[in-house]
Amino acid sequence: MVQFVGVSEIRRIVAQVGIDTVLTRMVDYLEADFRRWDRFERIPRLASHSPGGVIELMPTQDDALYSFKYVNGHPYNFERGLQTVVAIGLMAEVETGYPVFLSEMTILTALRTAAMSALAAKHLARPDAKTMAIIGLGAQSEFQAAAFRAVLGVETLRVYDVDSAATAKFVRNMAGRGVRVIACEEPGSAVMGADIVTTVTADKVQATILSDNMVGAGVHLNAVGGDCPGKTELQKDILSRASVFVELTEQTRIEGEIQQMPADFPVTELWQVIRGEAPGRTRRDEITLFDSVGFAVEDFAALRLLRDLATETGQYETLDLITSPADPRDLFGLIAPAAAAAAQAA
Ligand SMILES: NC(=O)c1ccc[n+]([C@@H]2O[C@H](COP(=O)([O-])OP(=O)(O)OC[C@H]3O[C@@H](n4cnc5c(N)ncnc54)[C@H](O)[C@@H]3O)[C@@H](O)[C@H]2O)c1
Repeated sequence: MVQFVGVSEIRRIVAQVGIDTVLTRMVDYLEADFRRWDRFERIPRLASHSPGGVIELMPTQDDALYSFKYVNGHPYNFERGLQTVVAIGLMAEVETGYPVFLSEMTILTALRTAAMSALAAKHLARPDAKTMAIIGLGAQSEFQAAAFRAVLGVETLRVYDVDSAATAKFVRNMAGRGVRVIACEEPGSAVMGADIVTTVTADKVQATILSDNMVGAGVHLNAVGGDCPGKTELQKDILSRASVFVELTEQTRIEGEIQQMPADFPVTELWQVIRGEAPGRTRRDEITLFDSVGFAVEDFAALRLLRDLATETGQYETLDLITSPADPRDLFGLIAPAAAAAAQAA
């Protein structure tokens, strides 16, 4: 039997455990897996592009477990009343190849992306950073806000979206969550005085969400929305002024903000900073940039945590997903007339 966590179960888990605990534990799981980076199979995701979006498979494995996520990115889905990003994930035992855990990953991806952003900022932002700007107030945005509050103690959010309904939704969702929200009329005023700037917009273009003159000394940039070829958020000049940190370099050169830069543009992989093998921020006035695109090891860590939380809380179902004939070679016996009749009667 395969352990299964659907949308109802993950909602109950987050309600029972509390989002702050889920996010801080997610940061711990991510950090632990980034520390053992060399133990993972690391390949860029397989991306199938179409005019309206992208569908991606993100696999990895360590010695014991294999995982993959199915995820899309369709920025114009909103016009059809659909989400931009939806996902499902699976974990299997490496030794037998048998799936052991199947899960919804739309909420889980939002939690893991936010926790990953907070983990990067923990190592890269100025330690006294308390104000964050968020540009793009869609599905991911409140998760980002919650993670930065829980992990870094961010107290003030200066926010902007082109869509005033998205801003109203964000303000509503953040009410009573221990942060001060300042809704801004334009992106320039949102970034004013912010120690951290998160860009998390969705479009399928090389957009200029931040221009060079909007980024002051000492700021940490958390660029989340540029994660596909031809889909970026930052003006190129910002990259030349910043120290850039990535997940897997070869994937980010295709998908991240640095797709705008030459192939030898210098970057540091985050696992090196987390393991203390490369410096993170070295000066107060340095501009640091986490060029986030999302990598399979993060989904592995997220599935690992959700599986543990499901077991701890008892919030899961078991699925009759994998055949288990008494004689492993007698698969046909499961659909032979007598067995089929027994299955129908059951
Ligand atoms: N890096 C990662 O690991 C990762 C993970 C998940 C999602 N993403 C990306 O994050 C982005 C946001 O995802 P989502 O699910 O929140 O999307 P969403 O469609 O729910 O929200 C996007 C928001 O951005 C706003 N927006 C668009 N253009 C803007 C602009 N020029 N200025 C200000 N706001 C603007 C929209 O009005 C909308 O509210 C997507 O591009 C997605 O692909 C990245």
